[in-house]
Amino acid sequence: MDRDEAAVTAAARRLGKRALAVAADVTDPAQVRAAFDRACVRFGGIDIVVSNAGVALQGRIGDLADTVLRQSFEVNFFAHQTVAQNAVRVMRLQGTGGVLLFNVSKQAVNPGPDFGAYGLPKAATLFLVRQYALDHGADGIRANAVNADRIRGGMLTSEMIAARARARGLDERSYLAGNLLGREVTADDVAQAFVHQALALRTTASVTTVDGGNIAAALR
Ligand SMILES: NC(=O)c1ccc[n+]([C@@H]2O[C@H](COP(=O)([O-])OP(=O)(O)OC[C@H]3O[C@@H](n4cnc5c(N)ncnc54)[C@H](O)[C@@H]3O)[C@@H](O)[C@H]2O)c1
Repeated sequence: MDRDEAAVTAAARRLGKRALAVAADVTDPAQVRAAFDRACVRFGGIDIVVSNAGVALQGRIGDLADTVLRQSFEVNFFAHQTVAQNAVRVMRLQGTGGVLLFNVSKQAVNPGPDFGAYGLPKAATLFLVRQYALDHGADGIRANAVNADRIRGGMLTSEMIAARARARGLDERSYLAGNLLGREVTADDVAQAFVHQALALRTTASVTTVDGGNIAAALR
């Protein structure tokens, strides 16, 4: 599911005939509900949900327009709540439990300058993960989060990487590999963490860092 219809259709095609692409805006509860219902009709239910959509809005917090912060909360917090509520609705009906996985961010625990509009709702989403783990563990529903950092993609484009590296006086490779392991972290590494969290059947309320190591953002 993605609001970018062409991208989600292409992604589903790459996954093969059994995949279902749904174009939907996660900030619209009616569209999210309809998407979950379509998945149930097609697959017979839902066991694993990865709540992934996000937008990176910026601005110095003292000058930030309310509209920008509210827009960020719609996508980076409330949409996760809408997705998770729909998942719980289906999983309880099934009576077989399931797992909710959230793409949060290292920003949730280690804010970057001028990135409050993004980090504040992400911090609320990190708390949301714990609330779902607490309130729905008895339903057999687990809830876990991934905190990633500096992953090349639609949010961190080649132009942004070049600009941020320049601003720090680094080459692009050193910028992307600026972590304890000294290696670039990729979207595949993030996906691997979600697979691990889906398979770890006795793990809930857990946060996995996928940032190559950053002590300032380390959790337990
Ligand atoms: N790139 C990073 O360094 C990084 C670091 C930590 C966390 N994250 C998180 O990873 C997730 C994926 O980000 P990405 O880096 O792959 O960026 P991306 O821009 O490639 O992916 C985000 C996707 O969300 C979709 N989207 C945005 N708003 C939507 C909406 N209202 N409804 C439906 N779809 C919507 C976009 O169309 C896009 O396909 C985000 O939650 C982001 O906050 C990214």
